[in-house]
Amino acid sequence: MELKDITFVLQECDSSEAYGDRDVLLRVLLNLIGNAIKFAWSGTRIDFEIRKEKDKVCGDTTGWLEVVMSDRCPAIPREYHESIFERYNRGPDRTQKEKAGRGIGFYFCRLAIESHGGTIWFESPIAGKKTGVVVHFTLPTVERVTGAQGEGSQT
Ligand SMILES: Nc1ncnc2c1ncn2[C@@H]1O[C@H](COP(=O)(O)OP(=O)(O)OP(=O)(O)O)[C@@H](O)[C@H]1O
Ligand SMILES: [Mg+2]
Repeated sequence: MELKDITFVLQECDSSEAYGDRDVLLRVLLNLIGNAIKFAWSGTRIDFEIRKEKDKVCGDTTGWLEVVMSDRCPAIPREYHESIFERYNRGPDRTQKEKAGRGIGFYFCRLAIESHGGTIWFESPIAGKKTGVVVHFTLPTVERVTGAQGEGSQT
């Protein structure tokens, strides 16, 4: 077993509740956090932020939460950015040789997030750096889906 020294940092957390299937969204988080732990270098940190999307000039983007997770690892080369959410796609060969997996996690996450009406994407490397991955996904808030301020089938 490979032991790593990784620090988890919650940068910012908006208190709104996302609307969705708790079990499915938990599996999304497990896949994404599992990826970050698997691919991050030891001695680095994984940062999380939850932002309430601000009103944008175009389109109705109110009532969405954006979850952002970043880790420090070798960058995902640009030629894989389009295809890496496809089933069995693992990007560079080095990951296939060095890290266990089947290339299903991102594929599952995209299906799960899009089935909630959200979007998932990533940037790599981190802006202004040569390494790292930043994964973002959005989910509707409870208020957006139900019009309610309180309890619902929220996660
Ligand atoms: N947080 C991350 N940091 C660096 N690379 C990542 C990260 N998440 C995904 N990747 C890259 O994207 C590829 C696809 O991720 P995905 O989760 O689909 O597959 P996997 O983790 O390799 O296998 P599985 O999820 O089936 O165990 C990974 O193999 C890796 O190259
Ligand atoms: Mg994975």
